[in-house]
Amino acid sequence: MLMKDKIVLVSGLLNKYSIATHLASQIAFSGGKVILQIQKGMDHKKLSRLDSAVKDFPEGSILGRVECDVSTQESIQSAMAAVKEIAPGIDGLVHSIGACNTERLVKHGIMQVTQEDFQGALNISAYSYVAMVQEAVKIDLLKEGSSCLALSYLGGEKVVPHYDLMGMAKATLEAANRYLAAALGDKRIRCNILSPGPMKTAAGRGINDFEKIGWHVDANCFLPGRPNQEEAAKSALFLLSDLSQGISAEVIYCDGGYRQNGMHFNHRTA
Ligand SMILES: NC(=O)c1ccc[n+]([C@@H]2O[C@H](COP(=O)([O-])OP(=O)(O)OC[C@H]3O[C@@H](n4cnc5c(N)ncnc54)[C@H](O)[C@@H]3O)[C@@H](O)[C@H]2O)c1
Repeated sequence: MLMKDKIVLVSGLLNKYSIATHLASQIAFSGGKVILQIQKGMDHKKLSRLDSAVKDFPEGSILGRVECDVSTQESIQSAMAAVKEIAPGIDGLVHSIGACNTERLVKHGIMQVTQEDFQGALNISAYSYVAMVQEAVKIDLLKEGSSCLALSYLGGEKVVPHYDLMGMAKATLEAANRYLAAALGDKRIRCNILSPGPMKTAAGRGINDFEKIGWHVDANCFLPGRPNQEEAAKSALFLLSDLSQGISAEVIYCDGGYRQNGMHFNHRTA
């Protein structure tokens, strides 16, 4: 079993559509154990939806659940301390969190971004990855040979319609990942990014014209359609497993080849 004896902290589970939920499932069904980190303050309805999304995980594969609001350092510190109580050492840490002021993102672009929007988006979507890894190292939670993973999107590297503010946050996340990889390499801790194509999740649907963007990728990626959450989770599983032992500081794309298509001439319908 690929993840036998491995314990992974997976953040960002909201519902059955979340990439993190699919990834936690892949880990659990590959013999690993997961600690789930969810956003602090989720209401009863959201919690019961999440419970039903993970109810068929193999028995004993969920070691525990911790709450965290990654916008504050204190919450990150107490969440990591809670993880340490569940397991003294972990083999993987997953940051699958992205958020900003959605109303503004939907209605406005770069020319309307305020300092408050900017700081909020970068804090939650980029700095929190740094803070989670820092804290995990500080309390000696991440074992030697462990793997850290964050989720990014093409809009952090190239211009994608309506992604403006989140694009800046994702660019920062990707740069932070490279510096984390450099800082932690001596401890044999790897840090990588998975960058999937557009997926129907709560975060994805927050982007204006999300459906059209999805269709565009479907029409212009090389595979017959853009990957779904399960396919993204399998690529993430590879990055968490020992199969990717020699890979660090990378951004791996799971987009059906879309990013490498130099001419969006719609090869499927032209
Ligand atoms: N859906 C897509 O099209 C797509 C494509 C590429 C990358 N991504 C990235 O994948 C990651 C996961 O997103 P998803 O698509 O699974 O959507 P999702 O909405 O299911 O997950 C986003 C998660 O972020 C959490 N979150 C937001 N603010 C938080 C806070 N202050 N504290 C703690 N948690 C907080 C939410 O609770 C949720 O679990 C994000 O980084 C997203 O940007 C998504």
